[in-house]
Amino acid sequence: MDIIIGSDHAGFDLKEECKAHLEGHADYRVKDIGAFSRDSVDYPEVANELAQAIVKGEYRLGILICGTGLGMSMVANRYKGVRAALCHNIYTAKMSRMHNDANILAMGGRVTGVGLALEMVDVFLGSPFEGGRHQLRLNQFD
Ligand code: RB5
Repeated sequence: MDIIIGSDHAGFDLKEECKAHLEGHADYRVKDIGAFSRDSVDYPEVANELAQAIVKGEYRLGILICGTGLGMSMVANRYKGVRAALCHNIYTAKMSRMHNDANILAMGGRVTGVGLALEMVDVFLGSPFEGGRHQLRLNQFD
């Protein structure tokens, strides 16, 4: 599976951890759109680029990380067809896929520790959408 990942400066360290973690999985190929250092970068630039790649169908699932995950998820969710889930625990990461068919996992690099974040990444990428009544609810989004 191809995964697209992006961060701003505040999410850079956690993004690097997530990228290294995913590169250790034979099943995942990772496209990193930056940030490529801790130098300050505006999170909307990254969120816009990643959300557009999801909308175009270039990637099915993505990960966005800023300081809190708030700005990234707010920007990404302005795009029709994007369902970015800001998650802080395993349960919401899992349910965001199973019930909401989330296509972007948003996390806060200043909020969530590396160990929890990597588990959330695994659960998010590994949990299928259940469809059925949940699809009927997604149909009402627009
Ligand atoms: C950057 O200082 C910070 O505002 C940003 O990473 C993010 O948390 C915004 O939502």
